[in-house]
Amino acid sequence: MDLPFDGAISAYFENDAPAPINKAIKRADKDDILSNSYPHCERLGRKQYDREMDRVQIELVKLQAWARDTGTRIAMIFEGRDAAGKGGTIARFRHNLNQRAAHVVALPKPTETEAGQWYFQRYIKHLPTAGDMVFFDRSWYNRGVVEPVFGFCTDTEREAFFEQVVPLEKMLVDDGLHLFKFWLNVGRGEQLRRMLAREHDPLKQWKLSLIDVKGLAKWDEYSAAIKETLQRTHTARTPWTVIRSDDKRRARLAAIRTVLHAFDYADKDPKAIGTIDDQICGAPDIWDA
Ligand code: ADP
Ligand code: AMP
Ligand code: MLT
Repeated sequence: MDLPFDGAISAYFENDAPAPINKAIKRADKDDILSNSYPHCERLGRKQYDREMDRVQIELVKLQAWARDTGTRIAMIFEGRDAAGKGGTIARFRHNLNQRAAHVVALPKPTETEAGQWYFQRYIKHLPTAGDMVFFDRSWYNRGVVEPVFGFCTDTEREAFFEQVVPLEKMLVDDGLHLFKFWLNVGRGEQLRRMLAREHDPLKQWKLSLIDVKGLAKWDEYSAAIKETLQRTHTARTPWTVIRSDDKRRARLAAIRTVLHAFDYADKDPKAIGTIDDQICGAPDIWDA
């Protein structure tokens, strides 16, 4: 399959990537963590990961049964740079759940009709009904980060977004929606490593888009937009949970544990859930550009 940007990521890696990042990727073993500030130097081992993941899967099934019994509505927003691990994390949440009550919402770019509507309109209609969980793979936060970085919105539109998003989310939560906002924070080296892997793997190439390729050179613009978005939309009622996702396994466990610990569902086993790694998961001060 020939993609319009065939070879563009390798070319960026060889010619344009910052030299320390390029070197770190070339030197690294498969399980090395590339980010110097990441608190662990190796990925979580496969056996330990599988054991812990199996235990939280059982708890997720209990959570869903309880949510259905009680009519609880749960929405989770997954945000992060390209290749931060949003899709993979959502897949692990849903692995053993009744898929009919655990929906993924991954909206493409707005249609002309949608572009003429209130910005939030197309997202609002996917919010969960009683007993359901909804996973947003990207969300209205596109207007905080991707859209300004690529010039898809005006400054005025972005300001209007920031003015509306905080009261809107508060209204939803006041109405009883359980809203989780996850920011998956991937380092520059790891992001590039994942994109190179995607470029070379026919099964993963579909995950790449022109935005990903162009975005590689816009690291700093992304950083500024992310920083501002986290600052302006992190509130006591509607907080962000930032998770460093250089190690996907630890990140997935941290996200699932965050949700499980937040509910008092029937037959809950806190020991099976395990503890959240607070070195990689917490308030926005965890975030590292
Ligand atoms: P993803 O990373 O979700 O697979 P992309 O990297 O291609 O998708 O795009 C990132 C986000 O930017 C997506 O949510 C997409 O809908 C959005 N997007 C792409 N083009 C536009 C556009 N012209 N206007 C607004 N949003 C856009
Ligand atoms: P700059 O002043 O160009 O360094 O940009 C500062 C921040 O504003 C960056 O994070 C940009 O992503 C963001 N930004 C750039 N263009 C726009 C835009 N049209 N609307 C809103 N934000 C923008
Ligand atoms: C991710 O891996 O973070 C997304 O789900 C897909 C992407 O950004 O390419």
